[in-house]
Amino acid sequence: MRQRKPLVVANWKMNGDQCLAHQVSDSLAALSGSLPDILICPPVIFLPNFPKHPHYSLGAQNLSEQAAGAFTGEISAVMLAQAGASHVIVGHSERRTLFGETNQQVTKKVEQALDAGLKPILCIGETASQRSEEKTFQVLAEQLDAVYSAQPQWLEASVVAYEPLWAIGTGNTATPEQAQQVHAFIRQHLTQYSADAAAALRILYGGSVNAGNSEALFAQADVDGALIGGASLNAAEFAAICLSA
Ligand code: G3P
Repeated sequence: MRQRKPLVVANWKMNGDQCLAHQVSDSLAALSGSLPDILICPPVIFLPNFPKHPHYSLGAQNLSEQAAGAFTGEISAVMLAQAGASHVIVGHSERRTLFGETNQQVTKKVEQALDAGLKPILCIGETASQRSEEKTFQVLAEQLDAVYSAQPQWLEASVVAYEPLWAIGTGNTATPEQAQQVHAFIRQHLTQYSADAAAALRILYGGSVNAGNSEALFAQADVDGALIGGASLNAAEFAAICLSA
């Protein structure tokens, strides 16, 4: 018996359209039996008109660190909630590397999400060189402590996604054993803030997850689901991954 209900998240990134939205909705609506929690994070423009179904919820891929004001082009947490989002991805590695997002900004975004009633999905992960230098646990601890050390109560409403940068978009998926080792470290590290919250926390794996490797990853004790990029753009494959959870 799994300790935590699995969560499978689709991160479309800057891809997809209304047609894909209907394809994904139809494929998920047709599923039956015991399903994981399923979350679709399309580009924000598609949120208000995304087809609704009880088999899945909707989320966003980013948010402003500000609540409102003269911040051209930004979108606030409250606006995302009004558009139908229940969760929001925060600190994705592409935001950290391509847009220079700092741990401080990520922390502010987590606060904005929680203040608006959104569940933050905090993304953490190391680079290939950090792993080869055996700095993985140090890097992950820094990213987690930046958010939770001052506000440990935030952990209760969070999801954490471990996304090794060397596995994102590369086809070089972490092995189930690698994922389990890191997820167990994450859970143990967070116990310092709240043993109960750490035990209840859903920790997702992301990085080249597909229908061929998802079941073995989900079989790991501390892997509570996945954050899926490329494979989520194929409605049938994403549905198959959800069924494997
Ligand atoms: O947020 C999920 C994403 O970073 C993983 O992408 O294409 O390796 O599944 P992908």
